[in-house]
Amino acid sequence: MRTATGTDEPALEVFPPGTGRAADGVLVVGGCRVDELAAAYGTPALLVDEAHVRATVRRCRAALAAAWPDAQVTYASKAFPATAMYRLMAQEGIWVDVAGLGELEVALGAGVDPATILVHGNAKGDDLIGRALEAGVAYVVIDNLDDVDRLEGRATREQRVLVRLNPDVAPQTHDAMSTGGQRSKFGLPAGLAREVIARVRAANLLTLAGVHVHIGSQIHDLAPFAESVRALRALVEELGIADVAVYDLGGGLGVPHLRGEHVPSLEEYVGTLAAAAREHLPPAARILIEPGRALVATAGVSLYRVVTVKRAAATFVAVDGGMGDNLEVSLYGQPFEAVIAAPRTAGPRAPERCDVVGQHCESGDRLVAGVELPAPAVGDLLAVPVTGAYTHPLSNNYNGALRPPVVFVGGGEHRAVIRRETLADLVRRDVA
Ligand code: LLP
Repeated sequence: MRTATGTDEPALEVFPPGTGRAADGVLVVGGCRVDELAAAYGTPALLVDEAHVRATVRRCRAALAAAWPDAQVTYASKAFPATAMYRLMAQEGIWVDVAGLGELEVALGAGVDPATILVHGNAKGDDLIGRALEAGVAYVVIDNLDDVDRLEGRATREQRVLVRLNPDVAPQTHDAMSTGGQRSKFGLPAGLAREVIARVRAANLLTLAGVHVHIGSQIHDLAPFAESVRALRALVEELGIADVAVYDLGGGLGVPHLRGEHVPSLEEYVGTLAAAAREHLPPAARILIEPGRALVATAGVSLYRVVTVKRAAATFVAVDGGMGDNLEVSLYGQPFEAVIAAPRTAGPRAPERCDVVGQHCESGDRLVAGVELPAPAVGDLLAVPVTGAYTHPLSNNYNGALRPPVVFVGGGEHRAVIRRETLADLVRRDVA
C-alpha cells in the first residue's frame, strides 16, 4: 500500500497519518478500505481515526505539562460531542467543557467525572444551571448577571465559578468565529464584570476560582493568543481579583485543511501561551486550555458517493451529502480538499477540474471548489478530509437529509459510534 508519506498524491497529506491506497487504488483509512466501510455503513459517513485523536490529545497534554507546572487540557466538546469521544477524552486524562444541557447530559452519561467538567454558555437556562449544580461540575463559567441569579437561587453546596472576561482582542478569522472583540456577545467587559464579581463574592455558596477568555476559532496566527493573556491579566488587576488562581485561556487554534497549508502546531501554540503566561501571570497560576478543533478535526474523513456528474459551466460532481453534514463551507467559507476514494471502474483516468457540490437546494451547497479529480463518475466514492470538528454536531435535516453515522476506524477495525438517522427518526417528531 502507498501511504501518505512519499505518495505522489499530495492531497493525502491532510488525511489522518497512515492513510494510503491499496493496490487497486481504493483509499485505506485507519487500516480499513473505504469501499468496505461504504458497504457496511452506507454513505455519507463520517470516519474518525481514533488512534490519531488519541495521539493528538497526548501531544497536547505533553506539551502543556512540559510548559507549565499546574495546567489542564480541557476538550471543547462542542467540536464533537459523542459518547465515544467523551470516553476517549476521559481515558486520555483530560477534562471536557460543555456548552449546553445536551452536551452535559451526554458527557455525564458517558461516565465523565463531573469534577472534570466545565460548563459554558452565554444563555444558560435554569435546566442547565440546575443540572450542573446537581452533578457538581468543576466550574460554571459565568457570562452574565443572570447566571449569578440562577446559581445563587439554586446552589445547595459550594460551587466554584470562573468569570468570562472580554479581552477586546479580535484575531484574524471569519467574523462568525471571532469572540474576543468588544462587540462580541460573549464575555463581560470590565464594568459588568465588576458587578458580577461583587455578586459572586457576596454569595455564600459561590467561590470565584478564576477567569476565562476565548477569542475565537480557526486562528492561524499565534500573536492574538499571547495578547489575550496579557489583556486578561490587565483586566484581573483592574478588577482587583489578582488573588484568583485559575486562568482558563480558551481554545481556538486552527488546523490545516489544504495540502501545503501551514498552521502553527499544538506545540507552538502551547509554547506561545506559556511564554505569555510566564511574562504576565503569577507562577503559581493554574492554567486551563480548551482546544476543540485542534484535537479532533484532522482525524475526520467524510465519505460520500457521487450521485451525478454534470458537465456544464463547470464540472459539477454532486455527492449524496453536503451542507446537511458539513456546514463549515456555508457558514465560514472553509476550503476543503477532496479525492476520489474508490473509482467505480478500474483503469487510468484523466484529471479534470471539478466543483464538488452537495445534494441540497442551496447554491452555496458546494463542498469543494476547483479541485482536480480523475474523471469522476457516478458511483465513485469521494472523500473529504479534516472534517472531524464541527461537522457531526452541526449536521441537520435540510431537505429531509438523514444525519450520517460516525464510524471509528483503527488498526483495520471499525465500529459505528453514532448510527445513521432513519426516516423513522425523522418522522417521529412530526406529530401533527
Ligand atoms: N472554548 C470556548 C468557550 C468556545 O466557545 C470554543 C468554541 C472553544 C473553546 C473551542 O474552540 P476551537 O478550539 O474548537 O476553535 N464552528 C466553528 C467554531 C465555533 C466554535 C465556538 N466555540 C468552527 O468550525 O471552527
